Amino acid sequence: MTVNSVKPAGDSAEYSSGALLELSKVTKRFGGLVAVQDVDLVIKPREIISVIGPNGAGKTTVFNLITGIYRPTTGNILLEGKSLVGDNPDQIVARGITRTFQNIRLFNNMTVLENVLVGQHTQLKAGLLGSLFRPPRVKQEEEAARKRALDLLTFFGTALLERQDEFVMNLSYAERRRVEIARALAANPKLLLLDEPTAGMNEAETLEAVKYVRRLRDELGLTILLIEHKLAVTMGISDRIAVLDYGRKIAEGLPEEVRRDERVIAAYLGKSARVDQEARE
Ligand SMILES: Nc1ncnc2c1ncn2[C@@H]1O[C@H](COP(=O)(O)OP(=O)(O)O)[C@@H](O)[C@H]1O
Ligand SMILES: [Mg+2]
Repeated sequence: MTVNSVKPAGDSAEYSSGALLELSKVTKRFGGLVAVQDVDLVIKPREIISVIGPNGAGKTTVFNLITGIYRPTTGNILLEGKSLVGDNPDQIVARGITRTFQNIRLFNNMTVLENVLVGQHTQLKAGLLGSLFRPPRVKQEEEAARKRALDLLTFFGTALLERQDEFVMNLSYAERRRVEIARALAANPKLLLLDEPTAGMNEAETLEAVKYVRRLRDELGLTILLIEHKLAVTMGISDRIAVLDYGRKIAEGLPEEVRRDERVIAAYLGKSARVDQEARE
């Protein structure tokens, strides 16, 4: 048995909390650095929760822990009451958690449609032999996958649909972000993790992104955890906001509560003070 397959004790016996995802005292160390420390977080079905905090606060590490890229040093992460610690990233996708990345990760030399099809690979049954010899069953499965990929592109209106055969590298930045979300949807998630979905977008694109994040919840019934730097976006979109600073959760609450929180203001002001300091050095 490998170390990774050992689950920590503490699966909640009857899954009574109603949480879709629950982080319980999660800590991640990289050598001497504590990137995430004792973080608790509960996400209920159909919530939109934001994680904010200065650069280096541990936000992306939290995503990497939830998606199985890293294993918590201590603590537990439960999906619908069952630990996912020790599951590998593919297993976690299959259990219903998908993500987008802070720096978009698409296959640039593949088309829009092909990228979305890649997102369905955990759902397809045909193995290598099936794909090589393509019996009718496999062709049917491919056709269904294609149809579903096109449906997913339609979520973003006609623009991506019209560009389905375009190489991803020819798309605008905002369009690539949408393709990445379509790919994440292809695996049929319950929980979608979005790492800075409006980074690098202008104001109009940002407003558009806010609208579709809301539609992902309202129309597709998804639960969404997002990391977002633009405070106006976070405040407008979130049911609750958790604030990380130096790996610790320093505040959590409704947007208006978090906006007024002294520690949050200090963390943000503290950060700009640090940046000023670095700029002077
Ligand atoms: N694989 C890693 N190895 C060592 N240190 C890491 C690794 N990943 C993240 N870190 C460190 O952990 C801290 C938190 O990083 P990160 O989660 O990326 O922050 P954020 O997304 O909030 O900007 C940073 O100090 C970062 O350098
Ligand atoms: Mg990050």
